[in-house]
Amino acid sequence: MLGEHRWLGILLGLLQIHFAQAFYLPGLAPSSYSWKDRVPLTVNTLTPSLSRHDQQLHAVVSYDYYHPGFRFCEPEEGPKWVRESLGSILFGDRIRTSPFELTLGINETCKSICPGKELDEKSAQFMAARIEQAYKVNLLIDGLPGAEIAEDLTTGELFNSPGFPLGTVEGEGDAQRKLLYNHWDIYIDYHKATLAAGKYRVVNVLVVPSSTAVNRYASPQKGECPDGGPLVINENGGQTITYTYSVFWRPSNQAWATRWDRYLHITDPSIHWFSLISSICFVVLLLALVSSILARALHKDIQRYNRLDNINLDDFNGTSAMDDDVQEDSGWKLVHGDVFRAPRYSMLLSVLLGSGAQLFVMVGLTVALSLLGFLSPSNRGWLTTVSLLLYTVLGYVGGYVSARAYKTYGGENWKLNMASTPLFVPGIVFIMFFVMNLFVWAKGSAGAVPLTTMFALVGIWFFISAPLSIFGSWTGFRVSVPDPPTRVNQIPRQIPPGPSSLKPLPSMLLTGILPFCAIFVELYPILSSLWTGRIYYMFGFLFICYGIMVLTTACTTILLVYFLLCAEDYRWQWRAFLGSGMTGVYVFVIALWFWATRISFGGLTGAILYVGYSALIGFLVFVLTGSIGFVSSYWFLFRIYGSIKVD
Ligand SMILES: *[C@@H]1O[C@H](CO)[C@@H](O)[C@H](O)[C@H]1NC(C)=O
Repeated sequence: MLGEHRWLGILLGLLQIHFAQAFYLPGLAPSSYSWKDRVPLTVNTLTPSLSRHDQQLHAVVSYDYYHPGFRFCEPEEGPKWVRESLGSILFGDRIRTSPFELTLGINETCKSICPGKELDEKSAQFMAARIEQAYKVNLLIDGLPGAEIAEDLTTGELFNSPGFPLGTVEGEGDAQRKLLYNHWDIYIDYHKATLAAGKYRVVNVLVVPSSTAVNRYASPQKGECPDGGPLVINENGGQTITYTYSVFWRPSNQAWATRWDRYLHITDPSIHWFSLISSICFVVLLLALVSSILARALHKDIQRYNRLDNINLDDFNGTSAMDDDVQEDSGWKLVHGDVFRAPRYSMLLSVLLGSGAQLFVMVGLTVALSLLGFLSPSNRGWLTTVSLLLYTVLGYVGGYVSARAYKTYGGENWKLNMASTPLFVPGIVFIMFFVMNLFVWAKGSAGAVPLTTMFALVGIWFFISAPLSIFGSWTGFRVSVPDPPTRVNQIPRQIPPGPSSLKPLPSMLLTGILPFCAIFVELYPILSSLWTGRIYYMFGFLFICYGIMVLTTACTTILLVYFLLCAEDYRWQWRAFLGSGMTGVYVFVIALWFWATRISFGGLTGAILYVGYSALIGFLVFVLTGSIGFVSSYWFLFRIYGSIKVD
């Protein structure tokens, strides 16, 4: 079976040949170095990872590499920022220059770049805590993360896991010691470029950290590696810490285009495929079942309604037998005069629909672009940047859909609608994001989004997204909306008590569960890549899942609406939106479950961040699936009421 990463490798390879040379997508254009060129090494934030002994995550915030607690060496002229994309900043990347000197092809052993720095008590405890929480150091050489070799426990395959541990914990209970890895062996594989003579490219970076108590900076024999046992962190402080590194350049046959393959490792591709295929089968069966039942029932209904109509018209001296027939006229046809009645809070509904449409197109385009390989894994921020840009530009779609929905329901207050479409959902998202960032700021973590980025976001929204959305609303109000197939009666009909299975809560819970099942397979890898900094790349799976989710949402909501109307309850609009939006609630619940099983951090900040971000994601999924459900139900009603005759 062709693994997912092979596809990506092939796509990237094709891209390299066809596009990269012309467009220089970030991270896709190869950089070539000559022999003895200096190859820059940049540093990123230190991120928490799954702890080795209990396989759980113990922290969520990341720390700047130059946080004073770590005592890492700084470049002489001070560390400089490396230009990054907006998305990678939002994602917590903070890339800066470093004093490491790597010369292509020249091996070096035990170099130290700065004299040892003393740890005071506070820093020592800080360091010990970070080691205990399994923090990883992230170095980048030519855009490739310095990685550790990890072994897949099921297949025995070796792969690169980005980042390497800051230290390790030895022993249990009172005998527990925290060792700091203060020596890094950096292995860099290089490949001779085929087309350019005398040019080399970096194709793999591995780091093997170790711990040594010897102050190698002070030792007279430079370039030698005297060993003196591990460096145990003394939590009372008073230790002097020196960091050293060695560099080994190794020639390699690996082509540049496939250098990410080692990083993009699926833990067990067959399991992944298996669950995906079984969920597809399940969904396809379900869809076939639902649509055939629905089609048959509808066909019968429509035939009966139209037959009754004919009898009514041809033979109005009706007999008693025909009266019976007329009484049979029950079900969804009865509510034809109310089904297109404007729901309560039609303003809120149309604003949510607008934002949902905007999200729908954005997610679709982002997933499609990443599937085509346009979003290289070498810059995870690129994905966020592209989706942000798409969201901004798609403000037009949001405004348009919102205005049309509002106009369809005869809304009068179009100015308020125009203003609230770009304000409501983005506002909620921004406020949540901002509040969570206050916590990260307070914690002094590097993960906090800088104020300038916040201003940039507000600027993009204010100057691009909001005007586009208002323009969209303006066009939406100008076009004429099609008349509904049946007219709305003056006086609303009485709603008879329905069966208990159609009570709001159970019916909503049931509607949301199926689309959620469809995306469940992909949710777990996404969550773990979000919180443990693994690279997410299974865009093929994601694409299929997104399709399945849209289909199941549409189908189950249509079914819900059909049952509601058969029970003569015509208030389907909010029920459809909330019912399909329930998927977002399930996503939130599963995130909490992930928290309970895979993450254990005591800190309040971590908990708030985790719950906050999960709620944010859940909210967006809610708006997205709710809109999908509503729009497909509306389409369905248009079809069925258009096919019956109403006097
Ligand atoms: C550098 O070290 C690597 C790994 O030990 C070795 O394969 C390579 O030959 C060395 N290069 C030189 C120029 O000594």
